[in-house]
Amino acid sequence: MLAIMGAMDEEIELLLEGLEARETLERPGVTLHRGVLDGVPVLLTRGGIGKVNAAMTATHLLHAGATRVIFTGVAGGVHPDLRVGDIVVSTDLVQHDVDVTALGYAPGTVPGETPAWAADPQLRAAALAAAGEVEGVRALEGRVASGDQFIASQEGVQRLWTGFGAACAEMEGAAVAQVCAKAGVPFVVIRSVSDTADHAANVDYRTFMPLVARHAKQVVRGMLARLSTPA
Ligand code: ADE
Repeated sequence: MLAIMGAMDEEIELLLEGLEARETLERPGVTLHRGVLDGVPVLLTRGGIGKVNAAMTATHLLHAGATRVIFTGVAGGVHPDLRVGDIVVSTDLVQHDVDVTALGYAPGTVPGETPAWAADPQLRAAALAAAGEVEGVRALEGRVASGDQFIASQEGVQRLWTGFGAACAEMEGAAVAQVCAKAGVPFVVIRSVSDTADHAANVDYRTFMPLVARHAKQVVRGMLARLSTPA
């Protein structure tokens, strides 16, 4: 079954409104909604903020039968071309806040793990095509950098851009990616840009959240149409 996950209510509530034949599955720390969205059976959930919540929720989704995972939400733009409202489809994901450099590991590398988790090509293609249909939005593919930090400074942006080649910053994607990769479950992360992770990020984030949440919903629904119709 296809699972759709966000971190915050705003990121999934528009999708939840359209969920038919809905039932709830209570799990420790999270509520999963099972139902049918645009004719496609799905699991839908708000996992909470940060990598720990994201990993826990992804694990519950896999136990509940998820065979593909789409993470949808907002992010701070890092790529200089990105503007508020634009969309990033993940090529791969890194954990920018992991630091075991004292033991000789590259910044962001979890010892024993891959330095970056690659998103599924088919889900990426569906997301990019769906994002291209959202009016007035530029969609690009790029690396998503996750960490338990809200980035709100030019130095923070520079660190992610030059150090990791990241297109955007958020707080959950790579944790979902790590869990899904271990289980061999395909995943993609789609992020709408709510701010550009600079000094105005805290204000922009709140201002633009409703707009970008609508964009994210449109992308997911566009993906459902594509994934339910064999190519
Ligand atoms: N989510 C939205 N904007 C963000 C930012 N600037 N940093 C981290 N996560 C975000």
